[in-house]
Amino acid sequence: MPSILNFSDISQSDWNALVDRAVAHYRRGKQWTDVAKGKSIGLVFMNSSLRTRTSMELAAAQLGAHVTTLVSGEGVWGFEWTKGAVMDGDTAEHITEAVGVLSRYYDALGIRAFASKTDYEADKSDAKVRMFADIATVPVINLESAWYHPCQALADAAAIRATFETRKTNKFVLSWAYHPRALPMAVPNSALLMAAHEGFDVTVASPETHTLDPDLVAQARNIAASNGGSVTESSDLHAAADGAVVVYAKAWGGRAQYDDPAREQAQREANRNWRITEDVMRNTADGKFMHCLPVRRNVIVDDAVIDGPSAIHLLQAEMRLHGQKALLEKMWGV
Ligand code: CP
Repeated sequence: MPSILNFSDISQSDWNALVDRAVAHYRRGKQWTDVAKGKSIGLVFMNSSLRTRTSMELAAAQLGAHVTTLVSGEGVWGFEWTKGAVMDGDTAEHITEAVGVLSRYYDALGIRAFASKTDYEADKSDAKVRMFADIATVPVINLESAWYHPCQALADAAAIRATFETRKTNKFVLSWAYHPRALPMAVPNSALLMAAHEGFDVTVASPETHTLDPDLVAQARNIAASNGGSVTESSDLHAAADGAVVVYAKAWGGRAQYDDPAREQAQREANRNWRITEDVMRNTADGKFMHCLPVRRNVIVDDAVIDGPSAIHLLQAEMRLHGQKALLEKMWGV
């Protein structure tokens, strides 16, 4: 299996098989096997993580594989990512050698490297993670890049299928929410593609200053259409929530952050009221609340919603383990 950098090009049958396999692992419960005994994976984290790191380590271990985690700035050399760099500064090791060496040790690699938030086109092309994968001579799993978070998307789809039992073609709302910082777009991008693969009628609700990338939305629209769904955009959260079976909340920075961060912040602050409240959820069709975590309580979502019966955020997190077991099995053919 090639590297998993995103699921935008995956066939629908491969997607369905992966999600179903994740749900099967979930239903089987905590199970330790040795199907991947003798295999190994090295995980490189350039950014912080709770769920991705722990669930990927456990996924590999529960399949019998060996796993090593390297965290940038914690006992590993500082990596240089710029091609042609004259390395007379702080960075000690070029990513070319680092990934070249790790490829000779491990059967697969994982990389987390967030958006630069300074170069939109570089982030949109997922330049850093693609560079990592181009250097690697073993398959690479994207553990959240500038543009995509495929492992989160797989877990989210598994959580939805386990919750609703059968595939839903009803309304899925991906809602922007206020956050004090301009966050990357990887999760909303992948959540939108995921909902399109699941055949939902998707509404992306956001202030007009914070719409997602038009090319990404167009891609999701094509995928949704081929699965009997649709993608629309709205700047009215309450109207968007009307009749929804899922409200997936996520904060992301507006595209203005790339050329004018102060303007983006002002636009974001003007929309502090974009928060998932009981009022919003009352508009839904007994809808479920979803979030990838970590979440800022009473900023993105009210306690009354996240502590209530509609919230399935912990199931999403649990599915990270099962989804990644499915991914590793497929990658290694075990
Ligand atoms: N959802 C997610 O990727 O969580 P972490 O950032 O904690 O890994």
